[in-house]
Amino acid sequence: MHFQAALFFTLVGTLLSAPVSQKLKGMDSKTIGEAQSLISKILQEIPETHAAWITSKSLTLGGSTDSLQFLKSMIPSAPILPNITEISSLETGLVNMSTGLQLHLNLLNKLSEATSLPKTEQVTELQADIEELLEILDKLQIKAGFNASKEHSHGPEQDLVKNLTSEYKTQAAAHLTLHQLQEFSREVLQRIRDILLMTSGTVN
Ligand SMILES: *[C@@H]1O[C@H](CO)[C@@H](O)[C@H](O)[C@H]1NC(C)=O
Ligand SMILES: *[C@@H]1O[C@H](CO)[C@@H](O)[C@H](O)[C@H]1NC(C)=O
Ligand SMILES: *[C@@H]1O[C@H](CO)[C@@H](O)[C@H](O)[C@H]1NC(C)=O
Ligand SMILES: *[C@@H]1O[C@H](CO)[C@@H](O)[C@H](O)[C@H]1NC(C)=O
Repeated sequence: MHFQAALFFTLVGTLLSAPVSQKLKGMDSKTIGEAQSLISKILQEIPETHAAWITSKSLTLGGSTDSLQFLKSMIPSAPILPNITEISSLETGLVNMSTGLQLHLNLLNKLSEATSLPKTEQVTELQADIEELLEILDKLQIKAGFNASKEHSHGPEQDLVKNLTSEYKTQAAAHLTLHQLQEFSREVLQRIRDILLMTSGTVN
């Protein structure tokens, strides 16, 4: 074997412990690629959804949410995504990606029942794409031999409805949800890219 090639495989072997590379073999890059396309699509849809859904001019996506500090407690925080370097972080990373996406989907479902927000196709499409991504993440977890995802249950977002006591609060909650979903989705995209790099063998 060519010296550089040998060195390359040694480095890859060192970076990825044997069990990780075995797990990654079970996760075909086609399915991971599908996850990457969907999260990229979701990232494109978030600003469009915001524009169609949030009519209050003072709530612009990308701006600071500091002035809404007092309303932030309405929205449960997104889970932390670990850097994916070993088998346990791959497993908990996928679990936390699913949990976080499910949380935002539940929030969007609750918010879309509010009469003070317009019914828009953009919200429906965003919800459908998050659901599809959740199914792909489940598939990846099964392929890697991880525990199948638990039933996606309702969590702290149940309290949200009690807080939607005015039109402004409802608009602000929808704004904060999309803002947090955007930040979380950027992290999900980053982690999926990491997994894709690992599975395609071009780790560096
Ligand atoms: C939301 O409701 C919970 C109780 O359901 C309450 O403790 C909290 O202060 C409320 N938050 C806001 C921002 O109104
Ligand atoms: C998963 O998210 C939870 C909730 O934010 C966090 O406590 C936990 O540390 C996260 N797991 C990892 C491995 O980062
Ligand atoms: C992931 O790694 C980067 C770079 O090493 C670091 O800045 C970041 O804090 C890490 N994130 C987590 C959740 O550990
Ligand atoms: C997976 O399931 C087994 C058996 O129920 C359990 O012992 C293990 O802790 C689970 N792993 C994770 C990461 O939840």
